Amino acid sequence: MPKTTLIPMLADGDFHSGQDLATALGVSRTAVWKQLNRLQELGLAVESVKGRGYRLPGGVELLDGTRIRAGLDAPVLGLLRELLLLEIVDSTNAEALRRVAAGGGPGLVCSAEQQTAGRGRRGRTWVSPYARNIYLSLVWEYHEGAAALEGLSLAVGVAVARALAHLGLPPLQLKWPNDLLHAGAKLGGVLLEMAGDAAGRCQVVIGVGLNVAMPSVAAKDIDQEWTDLATISGGSAPGRNAVVASLLNELLPLAASFARTGFAPWRDPWMALDAFADTPVVMHSGEQRQAGIARGVDERGALQLETTLGLRPIYGGEISLRAAS
Ligand code: BTN
Repeated sequence: MPKTTLIPMLADGDFHSGQDLATALGVSRTAVWKQLNRLQELGLAVESVKGRGYRLPGGVELLDGTRIRAGLDAPVLGLLRELLLLEIVDSTNAEALRRVAAGGGPGLVCSAEQQTAGRGRRGRTWVSPYARNIYLSLVWEYHEGAAALEGLSLAVGVAVARALAHLGLPPLQLKWPNDLLHAGAKLGGVLLEMAGDAAGRCQVVIGVGLNVAMPSVAAKDIDQEWTDLATISGGSAPGRNAVVASLLNELLPLAASFARTGFAPWRDPWMALDAFADTPVVMHSGEQRQAGIARGVDERGALQLETTLGLRPIYGGEISLRAAS
């Protein structure tokens, strides 16, 4: 029996007796008990009360295509070609790239309850426990090569911030190149991956990871200060399906229009959310360090670092930015 078999039955947050669960699955109560223990491994804390049974306090909202589609604006529905909702996958970006290799194209969206090998920037792992956060990848196709995509990942950060603002969540800040922060703690991140011809027709996978209700057992593996929507909303985070719909309402139009607009209309909105505007910073790239003052981004999305030698554009890649201590 897969680890997750009991979850749809417990998703409502109500108590279910061991016997009811056993009958529904056609297995013994001992088998149910073993399954309940396995849910802990997924970061889902099952409560057991004598005489009442078992429940997942607060329940879990599983990804649901009907609910996500119901939250999409009409023009966005027209841009969505396929909505692929998986239970467990290595990485939604990796899956999207596999679909691209198999002929999948613009408008393919892939999300999953859990990633076993979620990818972060600079080779890091993205902590991706079951049914608690959002892992979303969107495919789009462009014809002018990688150069025409400059600034796209920054624009994605702005789009995500707008999607969360539409849900009534507090404002976010962006950390160059594409971390989503709230009060200095990391709420989410963006990872773009490309396939095809870097000088011509190429497919881009726009990957977004957003912490919604990170279980503390999973958070032990996160090596930086983090937060989640549950925390920043004071415990009243919107459901994950509503968040996915809001993200797609922003991301699909952005992906579809970026070849025409480029980064220009996104630059000022990005600057308005810049967490490090006019702040002393140090750029880290391998062993190299470069200190300066962050002065926003240029029209290509490069960070403008003011050094003793003047303004220097810093392009993305393996570079990381930290506040100067
Ligand atoms: C970062 O390091 O800040 C970027 C994190 C990006 C994580 C998302 S989750 C959905 C998509 N699939 C992945 O494997 N990574 C991205």
